[in-house]
Amino acid sequence: MNKPMPELMQEQAEQFHVWVNKMQTQTEFVLDQHLPGENVVPMRLHEAMRYSVLGGGKRVRALLAYAAGEFCNARLEKTDIPAAAVELIHAFSLVHDDMPCMDDDDLRRGKPSTHKQYGDALALLVGDALQSLAFQIISQEESLKSGQKIKMLHVLALASGSRGMAGGQAIDLESMGIPLSQEELEQMHIHKTGALIRAAALMGAYSADNPNQDKVKAVDHFAKAIGLAFQVVDDILDTESDTATLGKTAGKDAKNNKSTYVTILGLHAAKELANELHANAMAALSFYGREADLLRHLANFITHRSF
Ligand code: IPE
Ligand code: IPE
Ligand code: MG
Ligand code: MG
Ligand code: MG
Repeated sequence: MNKPMPELMQEQAEQFHVWVNKMQTQTEFVLDQHLPGENVVPMRLHEAMRYSVLGGGKRVRALLAYAAGEFCNARLEKTDIPAAAVELIHAFSLVHDDMPCMDDDDLRRGKPSTHKQYGDALALLVGDALQSLAFQIISQEESLKSGQKIKMLHVLALASGSRGMAGGQAIDLESMGIPLSQEELEQMHIHKTGALIRAAALMGAYSADNPNQDKVKAVDHFAKAIGLAFQVVDDILDTESDTATLGKTAGKDAKNNKSTYVTILGLHAAKELANELHANAMAALSFYGREADLLRHLANFITHRSF
C-alpha cells in the first residue's frame, strides 16, 4: 500500500537531511586532504588557510555541485574536486569580504574573521593562496578528463573574476551610500554571489562523462535563479536574524549603508521575490522526475534557511 502524502514527504525530508550531512562531511574531508598541513612551511599561512576553510559553513556550493552531478549521472567521487574547488573560492571571497577595507566584519562562521585572528596582511595572502589552490586541485586531478577540467577551470575563472564575483564585489563597494535601482541591484547580486553558485552547479554537471545537454541547460537555468535567491535571502537574514544564529554580524548591511533587496523593496517584497525566484528555479526542472529531487530539496533549503 502507498504511504500517505505527509508521511512520504517527512521521509524524503529526512533522507535529504542525511544526504546533506554526508556530503558536508565528504566536502570537509576532501578540503582537509588538499589543504597543506599546518606543519608545512610557511606554517602560519597554512594554519590561517585551514582556519578559514575548515570546520564551518553550510557548504551550499559543494552541495549544489554534488546534486547537479548526480542529476547528470556523474560518479560521486568525480564531483569531489569541483565541489571542493568552489568552496575554496567561496572561502577566499569571505576572507576578503570581511576585511576592514571591505565590509569590516569581525565575525565569520561563529569565530573571529581571518584578519582578526591573523592580521590583514596574512588574510590577503590567505585569499590569494586559496584562489590558486582551487585551480590547482582541478588541474591536477587524474580522475577527470582534460576536456572536463578545461570546462571547469573556465567556468570557475569566469565566475571568480571581474565578470563574476570580484566584479560584483566592486559594484557593492562603489554603491555604498548610493541607493541602487532594482535592476542595478540585481546585476550586483547576480555577479557577487550568483555567478559562483551557477559555476558550482555547472561544474557538478561537467563532472559527469558526456552529460545530457538538456540537463546541463536545466541545471544552468535552475542555478541562475537559485543563485540570485540565495543573496536575496542573505539580505533578508541580515535584517531579520541575530548574530548568534548567523555566525556573522547581523545588521551589517544597514550599518555599512548598503543597498540590499530589503532596503530597496522592503522586507515583505524581498520575501516575495525570494519565493518567485524559488518558483523559477523549480520551473527549470519541471520536465524531470525524481532524478531532480536533490536539486529541488536544495532550492527549498536555500530559500527557507535560517542562517
Ligand atoms: C555567505 O555565504 C556569503 C554570501 C555570498 C551571501 P554562505 O551563507 O554560503 O556562507 P557559509 O559558507 O555558509 O559560511
Ligand atoms: C558577500 O556578500 C558576497 C561575497 C563574499 C562574494 P555579503 O557581504 O552580503 O556576505 P556576508 O553577509 O558578509 O556573508
Ligand atoms: Mg560584502
Ligand atoms: Mg559581508
Ligand atoms: Mg550579507
